Amino acid sequence: MLRIPGRSPHTSDDDVVIAPLDLAVRVDDALAVQAHAFGLSDDEISVRRQIVLRHIAHPGARALGATRADGRLVGFVYGMPNDRAHWWSTVVAPYLRSQGQDGWLDDSFVITELHVLPAYQNRGIGRALITTLTDGADQPRSILSAIDTDSPARALYHSLGYVDLARQVHFPSAPKPYAVMGAPLPLRR
Ligand SMILES: CC(C)(COP(=O)(O)OP(=O)(O)OC[C@H]1O[C@@H](n2cnc3c(N)ncnc32)[C@H](O)[C@@H]1OP(=O)(O)O)[C@@H](O)C(=O)NCCC(=O)NCCS
Repeated sequence: MLRIPGRSPHTSDDDVVIAPLDLAVRVDDALAVQAHAFGLSDDEISVRRQIVLRHIAHPGARALGATRADGRLVGFVYGMPNDRAHWWSTVVAPYLRSQGQDGWLDDSFVITELHVLPAYQNRGIGRALITTLTDGADQPRSILSAIDTDSPARALYHSLGYVDLARQVHFPSAPKPYAVMGAPLPLRR
């Protein structure tokens, strides 16, 4: 368990604690964070709900939450050992193969989602979530996909040692192209 202090020196109300999250129980809270941080329509939320519940049943899937003292979830991350048979892998594999990088799909821990509520961003919560989750992985490396643009997410991933493995990756139904990124574990501090 890791405590991240809030912005006020006078109260601990805004402190958050990074700890394992039972996503089966907190799936709606997590999707509310994602909807706010990333933008999801109500239809997308109900589709994601089924996907998250399926994901967390995979062997080795793990989730962490950033939670306030009053129990409110303000951020979360989850991921799992990569499996080439998973939908995400089947989409990115040809792009990685064309770059000679598809070996990254083996022995790799995938970061599936990472989101922090806007009011809690930029105080180290996202970094703490992803480094703590990957520190517990058995695999020697990590992969993920992020919208292919200069975003805070991409800056965070680069600073942790993730490099671009493929760019302009198109997921069916996603309007924007993604970059697939990979980093050796443990992540760079
Ligand atoms: C990506 C995200 C989870 C980062 O969470 P966070 O708690 O704000 O991240 P941190 O405070 O730990 O920031 C770590 C790094 O991110 C980058 N970063 C954070 N906010 C940034 C900003 N506004 N502009 C540029 N870089 C920023 C910096 O590299 C920062 O490192 P530094 O503190 O050494 O400068 C958060 O911005 C978010 O939820 N974004 C919307 C959803 C999203 O895009 N999720 C990722 C999907 S792939």
